[in-house]
Amino acid sequence: MLGHVGHVYSAGTPWAHRALQDVNVTFDDGSRVVVVGPNGSGKSTLAWILAGLLVPSEGDVTLDDGPLSIEERHTAMAFQHARLQLLRPTVAADVRFGLDIDDAAVDAALGDVGLDPDRFRARRIDELSGGEQRRVALAGVLVRRPRVLVLDEPLAGLDAPSRESLVQVLGRLPTGLTTVVVTHDTEDADRIADRGLVLGDSRIVADGPVAEVLRTAVTS
Ligand SMILES: Nc1ncnc2c1ncn2[C@@H]1O[C@H](COP(=O)(O)OP(=O)(O)OP(=O)(O)O)[C@@H](O)[C@H]1O
Ligand SMILES: [Mg+2]
Repeated sequence: MLGHVGHVYSAGTPWAHRALQDVNVTFDDGSRVVVVGPNGSGKSTLAWILAGLLVPSEGDVTLDDGPLSIEERHTAMAFQHARLQLLRPTVAADVRFGLDIDDAAVDAALGDVGLDPDRFRARRIDELSGGEQRRVALAGVLVRRPRVLVLDEPLAGLDAPSRESLVQVLGRLPTGLTTVVVTHDTEDADRIADRGLVLGDSRIVADGPVAEVLRTAVTS
């Protein structure tokens, strides 16, 4: 689904910077993939391209042989700074934001992210912990039923208990949903994904079963 994708920021200016080069990857439907790599290797750039938020300067991004479309809810992204994604005052209003859906659908989405609907539905966003806010943002994305879910550094900055709950949630996302998790933090990656991609200096340097790929990434 990514064919010869490359990206240069500020192309044609003295500040031109190549962030991705000749990336070729196919994500199987329902597969769970983690993308790892050092700072500046191009992980977030790849995430933005997969989410349809950035058009790459080179190559093709396709789904089922057609161009990827964010309007058709092909892909969705949840951001590390969840608070910026939560625009309504309460949990239920936020999950429902802009959609015509009933309470049961909102409750199901909260259940998917491990939040008890009876406890959380009416809670104010500002009274939630960072980890809970991140899970509400994720519920708001899941309720839109995207085909591909892209998460950029979902575990960054969480304390140990919040991190553990989020790892559990990510480990049992709805089946059929293709999930791409970008992280520089490889601990627990094997609980979230089956396949691992390693980016190094804007190129894919390894691709395979997550445990195998991480072993190479750590030792090389
Ligand atoms: N808007 C931008 N303009 C110019 N250069 C950028 C821009 N965004 C990112 N870059 C550069 O592109 C390269 C890849 O950035 P990217 O954010 O994709 O890396 P990353 O792997 O996500 O890094 P990190 O682990 O720090 O999040 C970096 O060298 C970065 O400085
Ligand atoms: Mg990044």
